[in-house]
Amino acid sequence: MEQRKGRRLVLFPLPLQGHINPMIQLANILHSKGFSITIIHTTFNSPDSSKYPHFNFHFIQENLTETEASTTDVLALLSLLNIKCVGPFQDCLSRLLSDVSDEPVSCLISDAIFHFTQSVSNSLNLPRLVLRTSGASSFLIFSTFPFLREKGYLPIQESQIEEPVVEFPPLKVKDLPVVKTCHPELLYQLVVNMVNETKSSSGIIWNTFEELEQSALATIRHEFHIPVFPIGPFHKCSHALSSSLLTQDQSCISWLDKQAPKSVIYVSFGSIAAITEAEFLEIAWGLANSKQPFLWVVRPGLVQGKQWLEHLPNGFLEDVNERGHIVKWAPQLQVLAHQAVATFWTHNGWNSTLESICEGVPMICMPCFSDQGVNARFVSDVWRVGVQIESGLKREKVEEIIRRLMVEEEGEEIRNRTLNLKEKAKLCLSKDGSSSQSLDGLISHILSLES
Ligand code: UDX
Repeated sequence: MEQRKGRRLVLFPLPLQGHINPMIQLANILHSKGFSITIIHTTFNSPDSSKYPHFNFHFIQENLTETEASTTDVLALLSLLNIKCVGPFQDCLSRLLSDVSDEPVSCLISDAIFHFTQSVSNSLNLPRLVLRTSGASSFLIFSTFPFLREKGYLPIQESQIEEPVVEFPPLKVKDLPVVKTCHPELLYQLVVNMVNETKSSSGIIWNTFEELEQSALATIRHEFHIPVFPIGPFHKCSHALSSSLLTQDQSCISWLDKQAPKSVIYVSFGSIAAITEAEFLEIAWGLANSKQPFLWVVRPGLVQGKQWLEHLPNGFLEDVNERGHIVKWAPQLQVLAHQAVATFWTHNGWNSTLESICEGVPMICMPCFSDQGVNARFVSDVWRVGVQIESGLKREKVEEIIRRLMVEEEGEEIRNRTLNLKEKAKLCLSKDGSSSQSLDGLISHILSLES
């Protein structure tokens, strides 16, 4: 543990699982570097503060109604939080800043999607850094939304989805980071606000590493004119207790212990993605027909309008018997690190993508919304550490992809590239590695900020 720096950092995570995890990990990294940490959090989806006695927590009342808090329209929720949090957040932050008995606050570190925090920080004369929890490559695409709209790519037309985005190879129109179920204008405004308020910030922190996204990071450095700090992968340098909002079912690990090395397909689509009943059945039969062991996370709510497993075909569980294990939520980091896991069938949320890379686990990509399409295209076509399910989810296609990955020579090549990338992810955190150097740069930058 480094000497305490006598400075406090205030962190403000977006209250969604894929955003809370990296912010808590970042908090741990900065705490281990000697900073004191205060986390301001909404009462909605609040993390368990008792797991982090070394941080101060302040919970703000954002006053979401029950209907607002239970919506499946994530964009509507995020837009609303950017309105409802303004007053409570401003009050909380100014109270913290006026507490002269505490260490001085160097800066705010806010999730990029909480764009309103820039004007609050400005009004309190406090520097604001941004944590962008997704990759740099997808952020770059978000930053070109006005251009993409002008060129006619946005809003996406169904008839064009297989066409290339010629200005950003190898992306196809269907990979663009949109949320099909939400109003395009709502997304456009949220993205434009996020990008503009990021440009006004004092720097961006990324959960990525230079060797993985060099080209996107270089472009962002060139176009944003603010310091950029790729210091990931966070979870490999932070030993935080899990910030999971759902209980992780540990039976996964004892089940995995009984499976042969590199035999299991791990299937999980993160904390938000929802699929149709028809897609659920194709996944189920694809897994059953592949004859490979599988561990499948079926989160309550994964299948639109359904409770849990009531739509599994009759006899499915008996049919797959011991070969399949289904849970509501898994200890994902432990699962991916388990020697029995051969492949990760993922929605390519950024955390899942990075976690898979760090364990050298090849991916089957099935992006659902937002940055996931860009992430999946990079996995399949740029880093070439996975295979994407293109043009419709069909059980025969699933079986074919599983065979390609687990039996055929192509699978061997993909595995080798994945292990190579895993090595790079490890090296960047070594003493002179790119992320370690970037973290040193971030610390100097924070210490140089004058509020
Ligand atoms: C969301 C967006 O979907 C994603 O695209 C964006 O990059 C971040 O926010 P989410 O869909 O939940 O996140 O996916 P992901 O980014 O993969 O984060 C999920 C997190 O939950 C991961 O850290 C994963 O380890 C954890 N998890 C997932 C579990 O602990 N158990 C599980 O069973 C599944």
